[in-house]
Amino acid sequence: MSQSWLVASGKGGVGKSMVTAALGMALAKRKMQCCCVDADLGLRDLDMVLNMHNKVVYDMLDVARKECKLKYALINHPQYGNLSLLPASQNGSSKSLDGAEYSRIIEKLKKRFAYVITDAPAGLERGLRNLIPASDHCLLVVTPDDVAIRDAERVLALMDEEQKPRPLLVVNRVVEDMVVKDEMYSPQTVANALDVPLLGYVPEDRAVLSAMKRHECFMEVDCPAAQAMDRICQRFLGEFVPMPVIRKKRSFFGWVQA
Ligand SMILES: Nc1ncnc2c1ncn2[C@@H]1O[C@H](COP(=O)(O)OP(=O)(O)OP(=O)(O)O)[C@@H](O)[C@H]1O
Ligand SMILES: [Mg+2]
Repeated sequence: MSQSWLVASGKGGVGKSMVTAALGMALAKRKMQCCCVDADLGLRDLDMVLNMHNKVVYDMLDVARKECKLKYALINHPQYGNLSLLPASQNGSSKSLDGAEYSRIIEKLKKRFAYVITDAPAGLERGLRNLIPASDHCLLVVTPDDVAIRDAERVLALMDEEQKPRPLLVVNRVVEDMVVKDEMYSPQTVANALDVPLLGYVPEDRAVLSAMKRHECFMEVDCPAAQAMDRICQRFLGEFVPMPVIRKKRSFFGWVQA
């Protein structure tokens, strides 16, 4: 049975596009048919994160306005044949997308792909609200800070209003030694504050940005963020993968760091 997932956050810049792209790649590596949808209209970026920006011809708005067929707007990933992208438009805004048209597109995609993962725009405006009815589940992405947590609470309230299942949580940009020193909330503390199940956390990792500069996705590099996203993908698929415990590591001289 195909599933549509909405990757949302409330607060901007917390890593929704990074999580969408990485989960899409991790699923495709496991031979799952997966389509990433960029619903951040006017601020297209998923094509860049997936390094597919040179291939964009048509976009989601062209399809919604019936100016092109869905199949012509879909782009295949150059290395992972199971991964496709429906890019956002560079013009307009998320409000330009009619909710009913979006739902029609998602229903069509679900006939072709096992997983349809939509990267939502930041904020709580109509742009996000239009996407909720067509989404079976939601992945909530937060950074471990009070602002991101408060904004995520608003997304949870919206999902409740629409009677959607409780989202799963990904805590991004976790600095493990700050957690150990009690300078940052632990991923489980964030999950408890929001009262949502923790799917996993992704550490702050310079490889995410350096891969982007090389026009690669960090999932192609063996780095802590890619390993974390891989574990998240396994749990997403229902496998039991223990959550790494963040604690001081023992060195020859005693306890040092996470
Ligand atoms: N775990 C991480 N370690 C280091 N950098 C990261 C990590 N996650 C995300 N970033 C960086 O943070 C920035 C914001 O990430 P991203 O674009 O995925 O956020 P977003 O929630 O989609 O933003 P927006 O709300 O603007 O769409 C990017 O430059 C990305 O490379
Ligand atoms: Mg984004």
